Amino acid sequence: MAHIVKILEGFSFIPRKELTLLEALEQENVSIDYQCREGFCGSCQVTLVAGEVSYTTDPIAFIPEGKILTCCCQPNSDMTIEIPGGCKMKQRSS
Ligand code: FES
Repeated sequence: MAHIVKILEGFSFIPRKELTLLEALEQENVSIDYQCREGFCGSCQVTLVAGEVSYTTDPIAFIPEGKILTCCCQPNSDMTIEIPGGCKMKQRSS
């Protein structure tokens, strides 16, 4: 079942089921930090305000309470997230 992802101070969208949350945010053109994309570095973390995720791989990075790693999780319910620094869109380069 499709779940709605709401970005605080941003917008809501329905990600494709097979995408990680990071990939889904990128597809929506949201600017978000990442490095390893494999759950090691912790740089892709956002605050989970409401809802649930399931991890596609076990993350190695320490995840503080209330945070999730977007590179290795998928929505498990409708959810609300807060991106550090706010919801910014990527600049298109053409
Ligand atoms: S990008 Fe490194 S943990 Fe997600």
